[in-house]
Amino acid sequence: MALRVGVIGCGKITERASLPNLVNYREKTEVAVLCDIVKEKASRMAGQFKLDRADIATNWKSVVKRSDIDVIFVNTPNYVHEEIAVGAAKAKKHILVEKPITISNKAAGNMINAAKKSGVIFMVEQTQRFDPVHQAAKKFIDTGLLGKINTIKGRIGHAGPEYWAGGDQGWFSDKKFSGGGAMIDVGIHMLDLLRWFGGKEVAEVSANIKTLEKPWPVDDNGSILMRFEDGTFGQFEASWTTRPYEVTTSIYGEKGKIRTSLGTERPVSVRLATIGEGSDPNNVLEDIHPTVESGSGWENAVHHFIDCVIKKENPLVTGVDAARSMSVILAAYDSAAKGRWVKVRYV
Ligand SMILES: NC(=O)c1ccc[n+]([C@@H]2O[C@H](COP(=O)([O-])OP(=O)(O)OC[C@H]3O[C@@H](n4cnc5c(N)ncnc54)[C@H](O)[C@@H]3O)[C@@H](O)[C@H]2O)c1
Repeated sequence: MALRVGVIGCGKITERASLPNLVNYREKTEVAVLCDIVKEKASRMAGQFKLDRADIATNWKSVVKRSDIDVIFVNTPNYVHEEIAVGAAKAKKHILVEKPITISNKAAGNMINAAKKSGVIFMVEQTQRFDPVHQAAKKFIDTGLLGKINTIKGRIGHAGPEYWAGGDQGWFSDKKFSGGGAMIDVGIHMLDLLRWFGGKEVAEVSANIKTLEKPWPVDDNGSILMRFEDGTFGQFEASWTTRPYEVTTSIYGEKGKIRTSLGTERPVSVRLATIGEGSDPNNVLEDIHPTVESGSGWENAVHHFIDCVIKKENPLVTGVDAARSMSVILAAYDSAAKGRWVKVRYV
């Protein structure tokens, strides 16, 4: 029988990611309720996706307590993730929360504990891990052919949330609702990806976070230096003033390097060096372009979560994992405010 889904928050991510990929997974899911504090938004979404049988709600509490709902998608602004996820967990619903998990360590701890206590599946939608380009890169990194990794770098940027939200940046520029600007909004995507690629945790960060261009009180650019627990160098940039959109990474090891670049002709490139007795490691041994499967990160993430609920398996991004990414971002804001390196405080 198909899992019955309640979607809370009917804005852009629901329109772009959740509903298209629930509707195309009809054999396993049924959208039972669409909920938004603005009723018309939920009704509009039902019409757009031809969900004639879905109920419309305006209060998430009425949705999570329904006994005919198995799964809750939390697609609201960042500051409301905690309240809804905790309520859903207490009502024994499996939960998919949009990134970032939330905006404080305390709130993340509450969400993790509530899900653990109820024994429900709790995933956070850190999309970048699910992009086929990044899946191909991770598969290659895990072969170990790069040798010991010494440096992990990346950049993520787009033109700003006003282009995502159709001319109005909405809650994204209000720290109370978002937790910050570009760093928490897109920086968390890159940081989560780099942690996953490296399979390492970040110990300390030193950050420069500023508003260079947007007329808002939150950051639109950030540049972070990281020291991973094993001493590996790390660094990334997050930006709301990058045109066109960019998601790039570079990982360097003893025997070669791998680069990824979304939206380019060869999105994953590996270059191995001539290593060994009498050879010069500045020379190229081999260029490799791993095969990238078709599909999208959003589709893979939604389908993966649904499959995990059905099979009762741990998802690729658990609450604990996503909280770790958020803790690094919070440490970066702290570092930028203090003007020095700070240790990351994990949940
Ligand atoms: N994974 C990704 O790639 C990605 C991309 C964009 C946004 N997001 C995340 O998705 C979440 C939503 O972002 P968005 O762009 O869809 O925002 P949005 O403003 O377009 O939509 C949010 C919706 O939530 C509704 N809402 C607010 N409080 C509510 C409540 N208490 N109960 C029910 N509905 C409520 C609003 O009315 C609005 O319709 C954010 O956490 C954001 O960071 C993720």
